Amino acid sequence: MATQSAKSHVKSIKIAIVGAGSVGVTTAYALLLSGLAAEIVLIDIDKNRAQGEAMDLSHAAHYAQARVIAGDYEDCHGAAAVIITAGVNQKPGQTRMDLVKTNYSLFKTIVPQIAKAAPDTILLVATNPVDVLTHAAHQFSGFPVERVIGSGTAMDTTRFRHELGRHYGVNPRNVHAVIIGEHGDSQLPAWSLATISGMRLQDYCSQSGKEYSEAAMDEVSRRTKEAAYEIIQRKGKTNYGVASVLVSILEPIITNGDAIMTISRVGTYGGVEDVALSMPCRLNREGAHRDVPLLLNGKEKEAVKNSALSIKEAIMSI
Ligand code: LAC
Repeated sequence: MATQSAKSHVKSIKIAIVGAGSVGVTTAYALLLSGLAAEIVLIDIDKNRAQGEAMDLSHAAHYAQARVIAGDYEDCHGAAAVIITAGVNQKPGQTRMDLVKTNYSLFKTIVPQIAKAAPDTILLVATNPVDVLTHAAHQFSGFPVERVIGSGTAMDTTRFRHELGRHYGVNPRNVHAVIIGEHGDSQLPAWSLATISGMRLQDYCSQSGKEYSEAAMDEVSRRTKEAAYEIIQRKGKTNYGVASVLVSILEPIITNGDAIMTISRVGTYGGVEDVALSMPCRLNREGAHRDVPLLLNGKEKEAVKNSALSIKEAIMSI
């Protein structure tokens, strides 16, 4: 239950969501029900759609005591965070990188308008390819790297923990394991750091009398990486998972919670400079802080470098 001071803090929180498509409105709904914000602004090029979604969400706001309005870029003013979901999304058979040219040119237009209206806000990028567009949002906003966050592999880490929990029969909350690198095909599990109940996977297996199987772990990693493709093949999009992940990233930003999550941020990775990819970052009201580099083994370090190089190649190809 939120404390009185937390509740009074929430009363001052405005969150803007640019893009009233499926991810944007699902995120608005999840945010509404979370009680984390007092005002949610929906912005879309289709103003009629944004208005209709805001009206519909307002009827859910009855249960959540938050104001939901449709607005324009100037309504980002004073927002604690601006979530960017606008852009085309993956169709069956497409990779996230296939969207880069269309969504990059959209960002060139919308990010400066957001930055002008809300020069002190935190940008939370969800549009794909999210690592390239997190880099673009940093470039077009002029914000410090801490205040330009991509949802990145926070989604994949959630899926990874879900798959490991299902395999070992434990609640995902008891699984500490991360996916790092690109939110895409070059992502990698940090296997050397994965634990269940504080024990490395092999130790957990021997202590619990379960068999540790490399083949099973490869299948867990494949299902994690290919989850979005499979969902898009079946229902044409993903929205619920990413919406809940976006709200889980917002939570420590709004509450100044110092939670550590794998999110995408511009930096130097594997010796590759000026690129964005996901590593564990500490999140609070000032944004994303990469305080403690992961202790990776040689194979993982090489995979991070390869991931950084493939994202850098996409950035340079625009
Ligand atoms: C997914 C989209 C958000 O992985 O890239 O569901």
